Amino acid sequence: MSTVLRDKDILHVKDIKLEHISLVMDTAARYESVLQSGGHLTNMVGKILATLFYEPSTQTRLSFETAMLRMGGQVVSVADAQVSSSAVKGETLYDVGKLLQGYADVAVIRHRHEGSAQELANGAGIPIINGGDGAGQHPTQSLMDVYTIQKECGRLNNLNVTIAGDLKNGRAAHSLAWLLGKFGPRFHFVSPEELRMPVEITEALRGEGIEIVESSDLIAAVAKSDVLYMNRVQKERFTQPEDYERLKSVYQVDAALIDQARHGMTIMHPLPRAGELSRDVDEMEGAAYFRQAYNGVPIRMALLALVTGNE
Ligand code: CP
Repeated sequence: MSTVLRDKDILHVKDIKLEHISLVMDTAARYESVLQSGGHLTNMVGKILATLFYEPSTQTRLSFETAMLRMGGQVVSVADAQVSSSAVKGETLYDVGKLLQGYADVAVIRHRHEGSAQELANGAGIPIINGGDGAGQHPTQSLMDVYTIQKECGRLNNLNVTIAGDLKNGRAAHSLAWLLGKFGPRFHFVSPEELRMPVEITEALRGEGIEIVESSDLIAAVAKSDVLYMNRVQKERFTQPEDYERLKSVYQVDAALIDQARHGMTIMHPLPRAGELSRDVDEMEGAAYFRQAYNGVPIRMALLALVTGNE
């Protein structure tokens, strides 16, 4: 039993160390093996997860709630919290944190503002997990992404990885760049000029010796890549609808494009997709995005168990 993540918040990938990644992936693999053999887990019996979603989600919320239920725990939830919670009466996230410690053992928050998970954690006496804060971070997504890459590619080191699409606003893209950067990749960041990866991320990674090629040429990048991590253009982050309309269809990953990619390339996407990833890719050998979504359950099981000390 490891205590390195016990009582810890999971707020930003910068706080996730290599030993944490190994621990989470090993624990997830153990749980996944139990689930796949038809076994049952009871390690979270008597524990409660609170899910607070102030911004829409299908996958993150359902996979966290499934993860808790698969371990015998229970869930309390505020759906559409931006309109159905006391936020409409001026309640602060700090105060929600104070309330939460009387109701739950661990909580997940999604919110449109960067830093929201930290604000909740400032008030809370229970572990807080960031389920996506605006255009900032999505640390649990990146943990399931590296788990998926390990399973699909058989390794994490020395990979050519293309991260493409809306790299300015895509929190999954930001988090994966930070986390995978620990494994010495060669990155191809592919986007329209206006949607480039934030410079603080590229500068920090280059400072760590990571090779990054930035371009708008998706075909050239996938011809050299072991992994393509595609992202939608994030409509909800645009202030001018005409800018979104102009940029939303710049890239179209379809079977014809994949035919020009390096043989055996793994194709990933955090989902939902919004036109940039064609259904004709779904049955291709490298299409891993639904397996990636499934991997969110064992990874989130591991996180919930580890931060509450119930693995
Ligand atoms: N990948 C992801 O965060 O999906 P949802 O927005 O559906 O949670």
